[in-house]
Amino acid sequence: MKISALHVTMFIAILAVGSSPADAYDPDQLQDFCVAVNDSKAAVFVNGKICKDPKTVTSDDFFISGFNKPGNTSNPFGSKVTHAFVADLPGLNTLGVSLVRIDFAPNGVNPPHEHPRASEILVVLEGTLYAGFITTNPPNPNDKNKLFAKILKPGDVFVFPKGLIHFQYNVGETSAVAIAGFNSQNPGIMTIPKAVFGSEPSVRADVLAKSFQVSEKLVEYLQSLPWMGNNVLDMDRI
Ligand SMILES: *[C@@H]1O[C@H](CO)[C@@H](O)[C@H](O)[C@H]1NC(C)=O
Ligand SMILES: *[C@@H]1O[C@H](CO)[C@@H](O)[C@H](O)[C@H]1NC(C)=O
Repeated sequence: MKISALHVTMFIAILAVGSSPADAYDPDQLQDFCVAVNDSKAAVFVNGKICKDPKTVTSDDFFISGFNKPGNTSNPFGSKVTHAFVADLPGLNTLGVSLVRIDFAPNGVNPPHEHPRASEILVVLEGTLYAGFITTNPPNPNDKNKLFAKILKPGDVFVFPKGLIHFQYNVGETSAVAIAGFNSQNPGIMTIPKAVFGSEPSVRADVLAKSFQVSEKLVEYLQSLPWMGNNVLDMDRI
């Protein structure tokens, strides 16, 4: 086949799209594993974690325990996320996967949040969850963002696409448990109410009042609340 100027132009266009800085995927592996280690003496920063010397790697670097134990849901949301991200399980470094267990008290919610670096696949083990995600803005600004949501029972699986706002809510009479996997070692969590109303320093109340079309008084009230994230960091199940 002769290579025409059109082919070359298309090839350059594909390269340009493929290397868009907006893409942010976990790196492909260049070796069997790269167990994360803290190295305060390293003179460089890397995108991810520095690898532990493979000669000193042990089975425990790939191991975490306690995911059979319910998380403590005694908090205002009535839910608890227990995570196995790279910070908890160093062997995940460069592997592009991670896991959480989510416990829900009756009426417990995992509040609207998004993961900038991962899609999520969730399986319900116990209880009944109402779960959904919302699309980005449609091209026509008058069209509404679409909600995709389902009632999930034990054994049901639901997928939350990367970056989209999603939630789960326990609509059953009993506690509920779900396990979710991510295609990132460090999916990142942005809890919407916490980020918008609980940042430090605060977003100016007039900005939020105008944006949400409510009074500054209401914004100031919301900003005074002690917002929590979905990712309560203590591993208090152990
Ligand atoms: C890295 O350092 C932090 C803070 O000192 C510590 O909590 C964490 O356990 C360390 N992780 C590893 C893999 O050594
Ligand atoms: C659960 O968390 C609450 C609030 O922090 C605490 O009072 C309670 O002792 C915890 N329960 C268990 C079993 O750890």
